[in-house]
Amino acid sequence: MNNILNQNLKLKGKKVVLRVDLNVPMKNGAITETSRIKKILPTIKFLVEKEAKIIILSHIGRPKGKIVKGMTLDPISKKLSDLLNKKIIFNKNIISKNTFSEIDNLTNGSIMMLENIRFNEGEETNDKEFSKKISGLGDIYINDAFSCSHRAHASIEGITKHIPSYFGLQITEEINALKKITSEIKKPVSLIIGGSKISTKIKIINNLIKKFNNIIIVGGMANTMLKHTGSKVGKSICENDCGQLIKEILKKSKEFNCKITCPTDVIVANSLEGIGKNKDIDKIEEDEMILDIGPKTIDSIKKIIDNSNTVLWNGPAGYFENPNFQNGTKKILEIITERTLNHNIFSVAGGGETVAAINKFDKIKSFTFVSTAGGAFLEFLEGKTLPGIKAIN
Ligand code: 3PG
Repeated sequence: MNNILNQNLKLKGKKVVLRVDLNVPMKNGAITETSRIKKILPTIKFLVEKEAKIIILSHIGRPKGKIVKGMTLDPISKKLSDLLNKKIIFNKNIISKNTFSEIDNLTNGSIMMLENIRFNEGEETNDKEFSKKISGLGDIYINDAFSCSHRAHASIEGITKHIPSYFGLQITEEINALKKITSEIKKPVSLIIGGSKISTKIKIINNLIKKFNNIIIVGGMANTMLKHTGSKVGKSICENDCGQLIKEILKKSKEFNCKITCPTDVIVANSLEGIGKNKDIDKIEEDEMILDIGPKTIDSIKKIIDNSNTVLWNGPAGYFENPNFQNGTKKILEIITERTLNHNIFSVAGGGETVAAINKFDKIKSFTFVSTAGGAFLEFLEGKTLPGIKAIN
C-alpha cells in the first residue's frame, strides 16, 4: 500500500495536508467520545517527528456547504491539542487567500487545523476547482480517514488528482484488518444494523442481502422498516420515502435466503428524557417514540447470534446515551462478546455511535476487530472499492 511509512518520504519542511475524521459524538458543545481523535495520534506524531508542517482537514456533521455555528471543529482541535500535549493553531476561517499565507508561516513540526471542511461549498460536490484549490494548501496529501473514504468529496477524492497522495497509518491498519476479515469470513454470517443514519444505510442493506444469512435491524433503521410494513411508530425517528426500497429488500431477502429480523417489542417514551415502557410493536401510540428494543426482541437476537460463526455490528439498538434506553445495546454487546470470548466466533463492530457504546460498556477488547468507520465499513463489506481508497491505489 502506498502509505507514508513504506514510501520513505522526505517530510522535513514539507507542507502535509492530512485528512482525518473528527466527526465525533458531541452533546451541548462537549465531546462525548474520543476514539476517533485518539486513533489519529500515531500519524500526527510521526509527521511531527519528521518535522513536516501539518495542515489538518476534517469535517463534523453535515453543514452542506454553509457555516453552521454548532458544527465548528474548535473544541475538537482543543481536545486533540490536549491529547498530543502540543499546540494546534486553529484556523477559524473558511479557506481563502489568507489561508495560504498563514500556512506558509508555519514552522517545521507545527500543526494547523482548518475549520470544518464541509463549510466550503465545493467539498461535498467534489468540485474540480475546489479540489485543485485545496491541493495548493500542501506539497503532499495524506488520507487517514477510512471512515470518510466512501465519500467522493474534494478532500477525500478530488484533491488526490493534483498532489502526491498517500495513506496514513490508521487507514492502513483498518484496510488491512478488514481485508483479512472479509476474506476469512465463516458462515452463518449475521449482521446487526441500527443507528440513526437511515438514508445512508438502507440502500446498503439491499446490497448486503446476498452476503449474509441474517440481517437484524434495530434502532432508527428498524422504525423505518416497521413503518413501511404497516406498523404505527408514533413520533419515532424514521425515513418516510423508503417504501419501494423496503419492498425490494424484502423480496430480495427471500430470493437469497437471508432472514430479516425486526423488533417485535420495543421500549417507548414520550421524549428522549422519559422513562421507558415495554410495548409490543402493534401497541404504539401517536405521541410515543421508540427508544430501545424490548426483551422478546433481545431473546430472538440472542438465538440468531448463538447460531452464527461471524457477527458484524453497526449502529446501536436505541438511544443508549440515556440509561433508560441502553438495555438493548448493552445486551447485544454482552451476547456478541460472550460468544467471541467463549465460542471463538468472529465479531466485528464499526461506526462512531457503535464505538461510543462499546467504550461506554468497556467491551473494546472483547471483539475480534473494532473499526472507527460506519458507512465506509458497510460499503467495504458490500465489496465496493471506496472512492478515497481507489484514488490513492
Ligand atoms: C461517519 O461518521 O461515518 C463519517 O464521518 C462520514 O460522515 P457522513 O456520513 O456525514 O458522510
